[in-house]
Amino acid sequence: MCSSLTYPPEQQKIAYQQFLQQFPTYKTTQTLTTLRQTDYKRLDEQKQIYLDYTGGGLYAESQLDKHFAMLRNHVFGNPHSINPTSLAMTNLVEETRDHVLRYFNAGDDYICIFTPNASGALKHIGESYPFAPGSRYVLTFDNHNSVNGIREFVKSKGARFTYLPLTTPDLRIDRAQLEAVLDSINPDYPHLFAYPAQSNFSGVKHPLEYVTLARDKGWDVLLDAAAFVPTSRLDLQAVQPDFVTMSFYKMFGYPTGIGALLMHKRVFGKMTRPWFAGGTVNFASVQGQGYYLTPTEAAFEDGTVNYLSIPAVTIGLEHLESIGMAVIGERVRCLTGWLLENLYALKHGNGRPMTRIYGPINTHMRGGTITLNLYDPEERLLNYYRIEELATHEGISLRTGCFCNPGAGEIAEGLTAEDMKTGITRGDMTLPRFVKLMQERGNNKSAGAVRISVGLATNFADVYQLMRFIASFRDQHHLNIGKVTFDIENCRIVRDEA
Ligand SMILES: Cc1ncc(COP(=O)(O)O)c(C=O)c1O
Repeated sequence: MCSSLTYPPEQQKIAYQQFLQQFPTYKTTQTLTTLRQTDYKRLDEQKQIYLDYTGGGLYAESQLDKHFAMLRNHVFGNPHSINPTSLAMTNLVEETRDHVLRYFNAGDDYICIFTPNASGALKHIGESYPFAPGSRYVLTFDNHNSVNGIREFVKSKGARFTYLPLTTPDLRIDRAQLEAVLDSINPDYPHLFAYPAQSNFSGVKHPLEYVTLARDKGWDVLLDAAAFVPTSRLDLQAVQPDFVTMSFYKMFGYPTGIGALLMHKRVFGKMTRPWFAGGTVNFASVQGQGYYLTPTEAAFEDGTVNYLSIPAVTIGLEHLESIGMAVIGERVRCLTGWLLENLYALKHGNGRPMTRIYGPINTHMRGGTITLNLYDPEERLLNYYRIEELATHEGISLRTGCFCNPGAGEIAEGLTAEDMKTGITRGDMTLPRFVKLMQERGNNKSAGAVRISVGLATNFADVYQLMRFIASFRDQHHLNIGKVTFDIENCRIVRDEA
């Protein structure tokens, strides 16, 4: 089944003309069509259809050229000393910090702490936020695991956490429910509300005004912007969360290994770091057995920062600025809109739907992430790992699994607390084993799905070819699509012994 697909250029041309009629503003994103042929030409040269932008953005070749030229033409040393090579590096690191703050229009209200990634930024918040008995941590069901993980700090400090469910099938926050939870606190204690500006599972953009709503009710707010900022502008003069977290590779592909925690200055004073490290202190003594933390962002930057890569963040931000976030957002909206309509319309010969899309099926308040499962004509789930494997044969990069976002999947796929407790208490559970358990229970529920995400270098040909691939499962029985040939428990390819 699913032998190598061919894509008749004539049909694709006709589909493109229809697409342009339906989404005429796509033409306003011509800059990105040009960049696809230059800065991102390796995609077509290598026949790669990249649809995993929520996993990681793609870098432009010009970003690499600029960064390597900078490294080649200078001598850089470890920053924060006054020798010339160190000073040169310090200047670039600090310029980048300023650029990040300017990019998000943070004014003088925030500090920018460089971290290894968004998870590193989130861990700082969990470790240092003044959770105490009496305080609450409220978070939406569709948070990334690195936001979920903060609940372990909450528990260890004797505070309580509460999950806010989402509405189905749209996977949005119910405002009345949110307000009720936010109103039920003792104002004498610190409370933290965490939500993603955009869900990395469903693509839903949650209203940024909830930041102000929660703050007005006495809450501190953590806005996880990791999946939002690659295709949307975040203006920190319009809304002022206490904490904003992100990873730069998701925005512009390169460099990996650097993220940021933007912390509002009003909360800096109430954060307590659990330790000190090289680079974080103004003064520390062995015999005096004490230390003074630096009263700036440096207090959160443990040891030597990733100094050679940090200037590449400026280059990446300049790249996005040269394109314009409105252009990127519009292109993503058009391609997502076309995909949603076409995926939703897919039917088997017997009229049954081929797909179940989790989350909104139009482009209102959503980004370019589409998560779905495929079903056979008898409504049996098609193994999503097998779908990924078959996509790989076609040069298509998509992602399957739970995307480190178990809560959104649990709600979207109708998994109950009882289902999840059965899984958790079995011991040594993995996602594939859990899916098997659910299938054995005969309820045909999935845990995990297929995720397609578009980004700044995506073009119509990419989404068209993906549609052709997915349409090839029409009238395919779940037992006829072949078996997964990689060891999914360990995420390793199983080598053929022969
Ligand atoms: C919404 C969201 N938050 C946090 C993260 C964690 O990012 P990282 O793995 O770069 O730490 C991700 C990564 O996918 C994400 O999508």
